[in-house]
Amino acid sequence: MSDFKFPENFLWGGAIAANQAEGAFREGGRGPGNIDMIPHGVGRLKVKTGNVPRPELQKGEYYPSHEGIDFYHYYKEDIALMSEMGFKVFRTSISWSRLFPDGDEEKPNQAGIDFYRNMFLECKKYGMEPLVTLCHFDIPMGLVEKYGSWRNRKVLDFFLRYANVCFKEFSGLVKYWLTFNEINIILHSPFSGAGIAFQEGENKAQVTYQSAHHILVASALATKLAHEWDPENQVGCMLAGGSFYPYSCNPEDVWESVKKEQENLFFIDVQVRGAYPSYTRKLFYDKGVSLIMEEGDLEILRNTVDFVSFSYYSSRCVAADMNDKASNEGNIIRSVKNPYLQASQWGWGIDPLGLRITMNQLYDRYQKPLFIVENGLGAKDEIRQDGSIQDDYRIDYLRSHIQAMKEAMEDGVELLGYTVWSCIDIVSASTGEMSKRYGFIYVDRADDGSGTLQRRKKKSFYWYKKVIESNGNDIA
Ligand code: BG6
Repeated sequence: MSDFKFPENFLWGGAIAANQAEGAFREGGRGPGNIDMIPHGVGRLKVKTGNVPRPELQKGEYYPSHEGIDFYHYYKEDIALMSEMGFKVFRTSISWSRLFPDGDEEKPNQAGIDFYRNMFLECKKYGMEPLVTLCHFDIPMGLVEKYGSWRNRKVLDFFLRYANVCFKEFSGLVKYWLTFNEINIILHSPFSGAGIAFQEGENKAQVTYQSAHHILVASALATKLAHEWDPENQVGCMLAGGSFYPYSCNPEDVWESVKKEQENLFFIDVQVRGAYPSYTRKLFYDKGVSLIMEEGDLEILRNTVDFVSFSYYSSRCVAADMNDKASNEGNIIRSVKNPYLQASQWGWGIDPLGLRITMNQLYDRYQKPLFIVENGLGAKDEIRQDGSIQDDYRIDYLRSHIQAMKEAMEDGVELLGYTVWSCIDIVSASTGEMSKRYGFIYVDRADDGSGTLQRRKKKSFYWYKKVIESNGNDIA
C-alpha cells in the first residue's frame, strides 16, 4: 500500500524531561527530588536501584541533574528552535518538587507554577501542543525521607494535590497528559523510577508492587480528575516498550518471553483495562506479594486512560536460561543479546521492525490509540572543523523507525503522534552522561559538567524539519 499518508493532524515533535533538562535544581523555590541524589559515576547504579537506604548528597560527587542543560533559563531559545523544525507537539514533564518543594505542603509554590505557565505559553505562541508528564521518574525528596516514597499510601494524596494544581493552573494550555513515565521501570530501577530505597530486610517485591498499587490508584484518580477539569483532556499511560522475543523456538524460551511480557505489561493492563489481570494472582504468589488495598480501590482503577503511549528504543530478547547467553549490558531491563541485531554504542539493539511488532501487539491488546512518546538513538557526536555535526547515524536510525511506524499504521494501528527522544541533548537517565546524545540540537556540555551550554543545530535538525514539513512523506 504505497499510497499511505499520515493524517493531517498527526502530532510530530520531540520530547525531554524536567529532571534531565531543567537544572536550576534549587532555583525558584524548587526542592530537591530523588533524581538529584543520583551521582554520575561508580556510585550511580547502587543509588538508582534502591540499594542505598538513605540517599543523600555526598561531597566530591557530581550530580548531573543539578544543572541539566539549564533548560530552566534557555527554554525560550530552545522552544524557538523546536518551532523552527516545525514541531506540532513538545513533550516535557513538570518537576513535582518545583510545585511542591517538600511534597506535603498545603499550597503550591507560585514561582514553579509561573515557570510552567510561561513555558506552555511559549509553546502555544508557536502553535505547539504541550504533552505533559506529571511524573517523569521524579518525586520530592521530602516525600522519600518522611514517608518512604510510594510505599506509603499518604503519598497518593500528595500526588493528587499536585495533579489537581496542574490540571487547574494549566487548564486551556495543556490538553495531552501522561500520568507516570515508563511506569514499569519501578521493577528495574526502583529509586530512579519511583524514589524507592529499600531498607534492611524488606521483601523487595512486596515493597515494589505495593508501591505500584498506590501509583496505579493515583494514576486512575488523576485520570478521573483530568477528565473532570476538562472533558477535552486526553490522558495516557506510558510504558517502557519493546516486545520480549524468545531467544529460540524452544518452548521454554517462548514461555519465558510470555512471562516477561506479562510482567512488563501488567501496569498498562491495569491502566487500560481498569482491573488487575488474572495472571497477577500467580505472579504475586510466586513473589510472596500480598497487596494491601482499601475499599473502593478496584472501582477507582476503572478510570481508564484515553490512549497508550510508550517509549521504544529496542526490542528485548529472553531465554529460559539467561546465564549462558551474552547479555545486553546497556539495557536496564535485563535481556540477552539478539544475534540478528546491530547495536548502538551503548549496546542497545537496533530493531526498527521491532517497533512495528510492538505497535501491532499493543494495539491488538488494547484497541486504543497509541502515541510514540520516545524513540531515538543515543550516540557520541563530533563537531567538525567547519562547526557542523554530521549525525547520519541518527538520521538512519530515525528514518528506519519512522518507516516501520508507517508500516504499522498501514497494518491498521491508530497512532496519534511521534515525539523523538530527545529533541535536544540532555543528561542520560541511565548513565548520567551528556556524551550519550539524542538531540537534533547539540548542547555544549561534557560529562563532567564543563562547557558553555551553547546550542548548535546538527544535520538531523534539517532532516527532521523536512520530515515534518512533508508530513512524513519525505524521509529520505
Ligand atoms: C527512557 C526515559 O527510559 O529512555 C528517559 O523515559 C531516558 O528519561 C530515555 O532518557 C533514554 O535513556 P538514556 O538512559 O539513554 O537516557
